[in-house]
Amino acid sequence: MSPDLQEPLGPARRLARLASRVPVVGPALRSVWARLSDLGFRDPSSYWESRYAKGGTSGEGSYGRLAEWKADFLNRFVVERDVSSVVEFGCGDGAQVALATYPRYVGIDVAPSAIARCVTRFRDDPSKRFVVLSDDALRERADLALSLDVLYHLTDEKVLAVHLGALFDAAERFVVIYSTDAPLPAGVRHGAHERHRPFTPWVVANRPQWRLVKRVANPFPIGTPGGPTSAADFFVFERAAADQADRVSSTNGSLTEPRTKSDKT
Ligand SMILES: C[S@@+](CC[C@H](N)C(=O)[O-])C[C@H]1O[C@@H](n2cnc3c(N)ncnc32)[C@H](O)[C@@H]1O
Repeated sequence: MSPDLQEPLGPARRLARLASRVPVVGPALRSVWARLSDLGFRDPSSYWESRYAKGGTSGEGSYGRLAEWKADFLNRFVVERDVSSVVEFGCGDGAQVALATYPRYVGIDVAPSAIARCVTRFRDDPSKRFVVLSDDALRERADLALSLDVLYHLTDEKVLAVHLGALFDAAERFVVIYSTDAPLPAGVRHGAHERHRPFTPWVVANRPQWRLVKRVANPFPIGTPGGPTSAADFFVFERAAADQADRVSSTNGSLTEPRTKSDKT
């Protein structure tokens, strides 16, 4: 464990200190973490940072047959729906992103160690950019916003709501979520850092301009022999056409914010 993680500081302050080692973070990032900490974000953020800082990975859903299936679905979706830019909230260690063939991508994660790993791993790929969760990061906009294997790790209701709000607000046309939408069946065990429950009612109640247009079951549900399994499915949301037209006219026809920074951070 790194010395920082042994300090008697609160988790949000430990993360802020670790973040200072990742480029392009500062007061804005500290303010986001302060808010998340106020919201009870302590456990998820410190859990992931600690895991990555010790050399851990994003988990078995980001590797092997599950990762390949997720990537195949998303790569096809991006081509079929003519998606020009993608932002992901909770990009992890880059294992899943390595299988992506998107035209332009920004990965955001709460764990500075994960972002540092991705910046190094993809330093020769100008189509990909990575930033730690911050107020600046929350201003990213793209055709498609992703949250993959993240929701059920957000055990606090307010943190889940903040994540979902940021996700839908970042997306111009589509949101794709890979998650469970119900408690796991009785007898199925899961990690202490997981909480499986419905999230779709939040979307109906809080983002009425969005429609769930497709749910796609993963082909390796719990109990499937031969490798990692998952209880998560893909949920595809589309912004209502009238709302898209409103956003285009209010942004002078541009569907994404102009990029003023270099591709890598
Ligand atoms: C299971 S990993 C999934 C990684 C990647 N999305 C994938 O599918 O391979 C969950 C990731 O979500 C990140 N995370 C947790 N809470 C977050 C939040 N509120 N905002 C952004 N990232 C978050 C964690 O640091 C971790 O990297």
